[in-house]
Amino acid sequence: MVQTLTVLGLESSCDDTAAAVVRQTEGAEAEVLSSIVHGQTELHSAFGGVVPEIAARAHAEKLDICVVQALEAAGLTLSDMDAIAVTAGPGLIGGVMSGVMCAKGLSAATGLPLIGVNHLAGHALTPRLTDGIAFPYLMLLVSGGHCQYLIAHGPEQFTRLGGTIDDAPGEAFDKTARLLGLPQPGGPSVEVEARSGDPKRFRFPRPLLDRPGCDLSFSGLKTALMRMRDQIVAEKGGLTRQDRADLCAGFQQAIVDTLAEKSRRAMDRYLDLSPADPVIAVAGGVAANSAIRVALETICAEKGTRFTAPPLNLCTDNAAMIAYAGLERFRTGARDGLDLTARPRWPLDKTSPAMLGGGKKGAKA
Ligand code: KG4
Ligand code: ZN
Repeated sequence: MVQTLTVLGLESSCDDTAAAVVRQTEGAEAEVLSSIVHGQTELHSAFGGVVPEIAARAHAEKLDICVVQALEAAGLTLSDMDAIAVTAGPGLIGGVMSGVMCAKGLSAATGLPLIGVNHLAGHALTPRLTDGIAFPYLMLLVSGGHCQYLIAHGPEQFTRLGGTIDDAPGEAFDKTARLLGLPQPGGPSVEVEARSGDPKRFRFPRPLLDRPGCDLSFSGLKTALMRMRDQIVAEKGGLTRQDRADLCAGFQQAIVDTLAEKSRRAMDRYLDLSPADPVIAVAGGVAANSAIRVALETICAEKGTRFTAPPLNLCTDNAAMIAYAGLERFRTGARDGLDLTARPRWPLDKTSPAMLGGGKKGAKA
């Protein structure tokens, strides 16, 4: 029998409190009936990063409001839901606990099944929500908190080909902007500056290109940039607009070249599986960068692979992706009990080594 499922999703693993309702009839496209996101940027802006205790308290205050708003926007009530999905990790533990407690309360009160979702699986399954992409596909997650290559084989089957061993690329853009006195978030400001800069004037390293595999490292780029900046300041007493633009262009080009080469390698490993309709999907805020996008599109054209990127509001943290990932788990028969626990670290690929680095937005799984 064809089954239609409607799932309420909750997300609170970092600095966005979100709730959403997603519906899917088996074999048809999924529909986002509502997606509410309350960001916390202003609460943390004075501290130069997300403060876990402030985040957790704000999530606890906002979650039930988000749920009411998401149900209202969908024109539904809890009695119309088939399940409640919640991010159970990885992320900042206080925030994840707020979401899990809220979902448990709703599940206990309504009798609805509870589904714990891996936040990274939420990101990684989004191309199926937005474009109905078939398994297996290659996924590049690039944001302020994440950076990894994954082959998605099924709702809970992922192979991690590699990822950052330190900073995520968005984090590197944000730090670069801070070092050059440009506004936050750093990605868009560095990209704008880079347009009028010469990417060849300063020679930035291309980290880990000399090593095999798909691991990445971005923290050395900001150190290189700081040295170059300090040298110019020592020689000339300050930075001109052109100096700043050239530094941004050189930095961005280093990220583009590194991601391009590692993406080529990841794609080769993916194509070894001989997928019927090869697709690479990219998600995360950094996917908005046009130089990075052009580089990835060029490689896809070279390799005869389709390129897709979900719309930005579903690429960045949201609860529709959690509701959808929960829906996929639910269809496989998965259920969690009221003993569901919040996990600060939760690698998608249990066979891959643990990733290093806390990152400005918490554990990178
Ligand atoms: O996915 P996202 O909204 O949030 C999380 O990190 O969870 O990503 C935000 C990151 C920020 O670090 C921001 O600087 C970066 O994405 N970003 C960009 C661009 N737009 C946003 N980085 C490079 N170029 C851009 N155009
Ligand atoms: Zn995320």
